[in-house]
Formats: sequence, C-alpha cells, structure tokens
Amino acid sequence: MSLKGRHLIDPNDFTLEELNQIFELAHKMEKNPQDYSDLCKGKILATLFYEPSTRTKFSFEAAMLRLGGSILGFADANTSSVKKGESISDTIRVMDGYSDIVVMRHPREGAPKLASNFSSVPIINGGDGGHQHPTQTLTDLFTINNLKGEIKNLRIALCGDLKYGRTVHSLIKTLARYEGMSFYLISPGQLQMPVYIKDYVKNQYNVEIIETEDLEDVINKVDVLYMTRIQRERFFNEEDYLKLKNSYILTSDKIKNAKENMMIMHPLPRVNEIDYSVDDDKRAVYFKQAKYGVYARMSLIAHLLGVN
Ligand code: CP
Repeated sequence: MSLKGRHLIDPNDFTLEELNQIFELAHKMEKNPQDYSDLCKGKILATLFYEPSTRTKFSFEAAMLRLGGSILGFADANTSSVKKGESISDTIRVMDGYSDIVVMRHPREGAPKLASNFSSVPIINGGDGGHQHPTQTLTDLFTINNLKGEIKNLRIALCGDLKYGRTVHSLIKTLARYEGMSFYLISPGQLQMPVYIKDYVKNQYNVEIIETEDLEDVINKVDVLYMTRIQRERFFNEEDYLKLKNSYILTSDKIKNAKENMMIMHPLPRVNEIDYSVDDDKRAVYFKQAKYGVYARMSLIAHLLGVN
C-alpha cells in the first residue's frame, strides 16, 4: 500500500511491510545519495518544534535539503505566534498552506495527533511529551537492520528512564512485532515502563519481558543494549530527579564481559549514562545511529510525499 499522504503519529501506523519499504529506500539513499538529490525539488518541509531538539530537527532538515527540497519552521515556539496564544489547530491550518509536509515536536502527548486532524498534508510526530517518538524508532530499526543484517531473534535490553522515555515506548512496540524478540527492561522501580505499554506488547505479540534494576546482571546476555537518559524535564520535582539521575552509568569496565557483537545504542543526547571511554569501543554505535537517522528520514519524506 502507498504511504503517500499518510501521517506518522504512532510507530504502529505502518505495517512491517511498509517499514521494510522505508528501509530499502533508505539503504539505496545511503549508498547513492547523489541519485536522489532532486527528488523533492519544489517541495517544502515545515519543522514546528515546541521543544528543544538537535538530532530530530536537524536530521529532518538535512534529509529534505539532501533531497533537493526546502525547509522552514521554528526551533522555539516563543518566536512564533504561539507566544500570542495561537492554538495548534490554527497554526496547522496555516502551515498547511505554506508547506507540503510537517514535522512537529510538542511537550504535550497527543499534540501531533490533534494536528493531523486539521492537516491536509502529512504530519510526522517528532516526539510528543513522554509518549511516542516514531521517527527515532525508524532510525533505530534501520541501524539494527544495517549492522545486524536483519531484525530477528534478538535479546534487547532497554535501560534507564523507561517511564518518561518516549524513544523506548515506540521502540518496544515496534520491535515486538518482529520474529523471536525478547526484552530486558532495566530501570529503577520509580521509572519502570508504563503498564499499558507492557500489557500491549505482551498481549498483542506474546513476547517475553523480564524486568530488573540490575544492568550488570544481564549485560552479558543481550544482543542490543539501548541506553537512555533520565528525562529531567518530565519530573515533577528536581529532588526526585537528583536521586535517580546517576542510576546507570555504562563504563568500559562494565562491558568487558558483554558479547563481542553486542550493539550499544542510545537515541542521544546523553548526560551521564554512558562514560566517554565507551565511545572508542567498536560496539558503541550511537553516533552511527544518529547519522542513519538522516537516511531513514529521507526515505520517510519521499514515501509520504509519494515521490519515492
Ligand atoms: N534522539 C532525539 O530525539 O534527539 P533530539 O532531542 O536532539 O532531537
């Protein structure tokens, strides 16, 4: 089925076959980017970021520019008429006339979904509060597929702030749909994955989930270790954040007994959770992962605009 004109709000908006289509084109774009440099000529991508971002905003912009298109938008809603009290629905109805495709990041869960109800052009969720981050998941899956050769029969550890971390919410929902996946959820008790997500993946896909607070206990069993930041901005008080901020710090010492081909991933930005000494380990792929995000987003834009 064509993805032309569709929105991407939740990672499960697309079938596995559609995700594969995106990865196949992303792979071709990575190998021969010059072949696609005019694909989106005359098209405009709007980036509406109501929350800070480095990777999502700039990788989308790089993606559109590499496809020969143009970009407009804001990185700080306070520089737009949002500051004067304009609603999401009105902003979207206006941007709809100025652009061909929109990426929105918002601190409120459900804001991109609301926007999609008022838009005639594709809306992409660039992260909504502590809810979902589907294009990070495209990036993560494209990375695993490229580096492991396939997405199948993997033991995945998700570690850190699993309560507020939207990247891991989208990732587990999507990975659980692939064959032979099992999960270790490593977090402090206060930051466990929400029950509604665990129930959803268990009931829908019958995957094995083991919860623990101890990273070192499971690190030698997993194929992918996905570290996440403790999400300071989502805490209701600073004191709670300070108690939990250093819950997990991955060091070179801690990965000594891990599998030779384990992948260490992180959506970034990192704060303290991966020591800089780990960066030189061949298993650390987080900067490669950030780069793959450009190709995954190039392919996504091309598919949603129907120019693939
Ligand atoms: N991974 C990610 O969403 O990073 P940014 O917040 O910098 O966009």
